[in-house]
Amino acid sequence: MTEAFYGTVKQLQSTCLMFPAFQTAFERMDANLRLYRKTGIAQNLLVLGESGTGKTTLARMFTERYPRHALIERDIVPVLYASVPAAATIAGTVEAILTQLGDLEPDRGTISIKTARAVKLAKGCAVEMLVFDEAQHIQDRGRSQSQYFVGDWLKAFIDALSLPVTLLGLPRTQRLLQVNEQLRRRFSHCVSLSTEPGNQLPDEADSIALLASLAEAVPLPLNPSPQGWGELGLRLHFATQGRIAYVKQLLVHAYGCAIDSGSNCITTTELAHAFTASIWPAGIGPLNPFDQGFQWRNLDRQGEPFQMGDVGTQPPRRSKH
Ligand SMILES: Nc1ncnc2c1ncn2[C@@H]1O[C@H](COP(=O)(O)OP(=O)(O)OP(=O)(O)O)[C@@H](O)[C@H]1O
Ligand SMILES: [Mg+2]
Repeated sequence: MTEAFYGTVKQLQSTCLMFPAFQTAFERMDANLRLYRKTGIAQNLLVLGESGTGKTTLARMFTERYPRHALIERDIVPVLYASVPAAATIAGTVEAILTQLGDLEPDRGTISIKTARAVKLAKGCAVEMLVFDEAQHIQDRGRSQSQYFVGDWLKAFIDALSLPVTLLGLPRTQRLLQVNEQLRRRFSHCVSLSTEPGNQLPDEADSIALLASLAEAVPLPLNPSPQGWGELGLRLHFATQGRIAYVKQLLVHAYGCAIDSGSNCITTTELAHAFTASIWPAGIGPLNPFDQGFQWRNLDRQGEPFQMGDVGTQPPRRSKH
């Protein structure tokens, strides 16, 4: 592979698209921050999306929009980003927050001492929004009491700071709200990062739009023949479920295949290879959305790449006709 190839792949990897669902979520977060700045009203937001839909990218992009900076006597952290640790305990969660606030000994003290320190530090750093990624870990609580009460602790922490909060997590995060009435009231606003949300039929135009926008970074054109763009979009929907991470992976591999085979465009042949190589090794023949013999169904059964275990994430049934 040439330097130009690696340059293109690097550019593709770093491309960040404001696709409609992503932009909506970003604007909601921004509106909440502005509302707080102007009025002191703390409006919370829940951002849901399956793996690879761009939750962490969104959180990081938003945090970079309001970067931390140092004054002589203290750090200013307008947006505090913290990732809720796996098997979340209150101690683990508050330590993740303390670390982000620059605390040098985040594991020092009892839970209440750490919590008080986190509240004080957040106020001292002039935090204006809390952004918690991997929020499903609060819901994935284990059997111990300390895990069980993370949701209640979070509610108390939010109240102590009276700041707008954005929770980002897998769709099953919604179960946390189903069982915790107080959090439910605080997170009544919810957006989905899925390009094909819940109960609507998937729109193949969304999938094609993602692919076409990303493909602008690639020097080879996309060629949908022998089918049209509509059918390619539908195949793409079954191959990626509209998740940007998969669309990107697919395009990187398809571009590599085209270069390897000396092709002057990217067709379903390259996309079929790329699906097997980058998304699902067992996805061949009728189980490969870019194969002529594809079964035209969601690949969400046991052992398939989009196997569903989440609340409310079952994609709408879709067949070709
Ligand atoms: N808006 C975007 N534009 C372009 N690429 C994106 C965008 N959002 C995400 N990606 C790509 O998708 C990949 C996965 O994104 P990200 O890690 O944000 O997903 P996630 O929803 O947090 O997934 P997980 O639930 O597994 O943590 C990123 O590495 C990035 O390359
Ligand atoms: Mg993530």
